[in-house]
Amino acid sequence: MRTASPHAMTIVKSTAPALEKHGVEITTAMYARLFRDPAIEALFDKAAQSSGEQPRRLAGAILAYARNIDKLANLRPAVSRMVARHVETGVKAEHYPYVAEALLPAIRDVLGPDVATDEVLAAWGEAYWMLADILIAAEAQAYEDAVAA
Ligand code: HEM
Repeated sequence: MRTASPHAMTIVKSTAPALEKHGVEITTAMYARLFRDPAIEALFDKAAQSSGEQPRRLAGAILAYARNIDKLANLRPAVSRMVARHVETGVKAEHYPYVAEALLPAIRDVLGPDVATDEVLAAWGEAYWMLADILIAAEAQAYEDAVAA
């Protein structure tokens, strides 16, 4: 399990106001990058996507994460929903790098290099992988439980 450093957590929390303002723009840009790969696009439900629901949900999750990165217990119900949805749609550990490679450049594109500095992006990189490792572990367990049942 990777953990973000206290310094990275402080930076991520400080980006919450920018995320609140530009979150949907960021996640919309992220999906545009992510869906350049048809195998990844196929995992997503088209209806939720085209209604703008999925970018809104992800933006909400990212903002809640930025605010609670040092109080992860607050995120437990949200994490459970993500895990359930990911398991329903067949998300696997090997998909996580694609989202990282789409999300971080989207943050840079939308916020611009003066706000999304190298330091901010590195902090978000640490934060992303901390949450990804939590999700990956919980999803692996859920897949195992499903096989056992
Ligand atoms: C840290 C990384 C991630 C976060 C924070 C995240 C967050 C979320 C959230 C908040 C939802 C909506 C849950 C709900 O319905 O309430 C969701 C759904 C989903 N996620 Fe993720 N996710 C991550 C990684 C991934 C990855 C790596 C993939 C696969 C490429 C993926 C694919 C999906 C799919 C297919 C859905 C269902 C979408 C739909 O309803 O159409 N996610 N995720």
